[in-house]
Amino acid sequence: MCGIIGYVGREEAAPILLDGLSRMEYRGYDSAGIAVRSEDAGLQVRKSRGRLQVLSDMVHGGADLKGTLGIGHTRWATHGEPNDINAHPHVSENGKIALVHNGIIENYLELKEHLIKQGVKFQSDTDSEVVAQLLEFHYHECGNMLEAVGRCLRRIEGSYAFGIICADYPNALIAARKDSPLILGYGKDGNFIASDVTAIIKHTRDVVYMDDGEIAVVTADHIDVFDDEMIPVEKTHSHVDWDVSSAEKGGYPHFMLKEIFEQPEAIRKTISPRIRDGRVVLDDLHLSEEYVQGLSRIFIVACGSSYHVGMVSKYTWEKLLRRPVEVCLASEFRYGEPLVDEKSLVIVISQSGETLDTMAAMREAKRLGGRTLAIVNVVGSSIAREADDVLYTWAGPEIAVATTKAYSTQLALMDLVGLYLGDLLGTVSSQEYQAVIEAMGRLPDQMQQVLDHVETIQYHACQYFNHDSIFFIGRNLDYAMGLEGSLKLKEISYIHSEAYASGELKHGTISLIEPGTLVVALGTYAPLFDKAMSNVVEVKARGAEVLAITTERFQEKMEKTADSTVVVPDTHAIVQPSLGVVPLQLFAYYVALQRGCDIDKPRNLAKSVTVE
Ligand code: M6R
Repeated sequence: MCGIIGYVGREEAAPILLDGLSRMEYRGYDSAGIAVRSEDAGLQVRKSRGRLQVLSDMVHGGADLKGTLGIGHTRWATHGEPNDINAHPHVSENGKIALVHNGIIENYLELKEHLIKQGVKFQSDTDSEVVAQLLEFHYHECGNMLEAVGRCLRRIEGSYAFGIICADYPNALIAARKDSPLILGYGKDGNFIASDVTAIIKHTRDVVYMDDGEIAVVTADHIDVFDDEMIPVEKTHSHVDWDVSSAEKGGYPHFMLKEIFEQPEAIRKTISPRIRDGRVVLDDLHLSEEYVQGLSRIFIVACGSSYHVGMVSKYTWEKLLRRPVEVCLASEFRYGEPLVDEKSLVIVISQSGETLDTMAAMREAKRLGGRTLAIVNVVGSSIAREADDVLYTWAGPEIAVATTKAYSTQLALMDLVGLYLGDLLGTVSSQEYQAVIEAMGRLPDQMQQVLDHVETIQYHACQYFNHDSIFFIGRNLDYAMGLEGSLKLKEISYIHSEAYASGELKHGTISLIEPGTLVVALGTYAPLFDKAMSNVVEVKARGAEVLAITTERFQEKMEKTADSTVVVPDTHAIVQPSLGVVPLQLFAYYVALQRGCDIDKPRNLAKSVTVE
């Protein structure tokens, strides 16, 4: 979604801003812009619809815009179509104030009407321009930019991360945040603001995470942070220890492929420190045995692929915990009057830790008295900081919009947490506990084995990439895994696809199966393999072409019926989806490649969805 960068220092700002924006391209955007202030030219603003390269070419890589203070933005349209005018930065009518904004101003129409009555003329259809104009209004009123920002923030409703510069303040940029991430970066030759650490990691690893309601005044040598009453706040610095190379393709044609291949290592990093002497050790989880015993409800709340992890975990946790587990889409949960109370544990899963619906759902759960545990990948992200407990998936930065290694590490971590809770509840036998632990230990190598046979999937992708509609079917854990396989495919290849519980097909959807329809049949869940096979036979009888994913144990049986079969190693049923999902990710990738799609930046999608 939208990306923000700001810089003030001793270097030329424009090339730094363009480079920072290029590092956030993965987030998804439709237009980009920068504003740089110089002594001679005042505020210079350039923006353009389309790829960042268009903007970069327009300003010759930044060489055209002199000045050491500036802000930049990549926009993902919410209010107003993606075009040059609606792109950020937005500039106030007198041309003195430029602003970039992430989030949504909910009362913008009311404010706009008020300003129009004062004679203000608007250029764009955006909610963000309203804030630029409102700032000018208050600046005119009080003559002090910081005070004007404070007055403005008191009037707006909604979510925001702002980067603001004013022609009258040659040495400072102002930042403010509420419900949209913003970090402050302390560099050697200047300081930064950014919505995403990847934008500035090349320049600094010394960062401060802004909290809701805070305002920062950033100069080349200093950063002051204030709360919403303008009282100075002492902030804790964090060191970003990401490897810069993880945000680069490292020889792979796409981040998605690189991240698929990074999965064995990512899983290792996520699980190894948490398994000691054959036991799950979760140092960061502070749930007493008494609390767990007294739990009345367990919710898993998330969006997209993280929700699919929840779907898999519902099956595995109910087996391990012998307790009902409710999986909810965060966007539904937050407004659905959920039955959360003091005895409820609410697990929120989020790669980015910034998904607005998930964050709002978590806050709702807390408001209702529930205890929250966040499974998050991005360290220091908003969800991680607000949850009662947080367990990090150590997947490293995930750049491709279509998640792969974050999904796998979430799944592996949820398996460990399930095992841990099952052990506390006494609902897992010691044999099963040990069997799952052993299976988890083998997982990275077995995953590597699947990746070593990538050419099989490439072959099947070449065979099937021309289909217009693809069904994923399976039972139990295979059904939950199919949800993710289907989402991966539609996200990046734009092929219509549905995932169905095999047994449900005959209640309606089977009418869509006709000669030549491609069905991806998932037959890795051993306890229901025979049932799943009968559904494969059903779709075959109606002319479907079947690409099956199964395990070594069932290969022979499956090959007798399916048109094509991909085989993954056998493992414990609970861990099996972690292996089964890999061919589905690769299939989506190679199908999209065959169709010439923009794999890392699929249309209309954003990496981190920070709006409702
Ligand atoms: O960062 P989160 O895990 O909260 O993101 C949730 C979804 O937006 C995300 O999983 C989305 O569905 C991915 N694009 C799927 O590949």
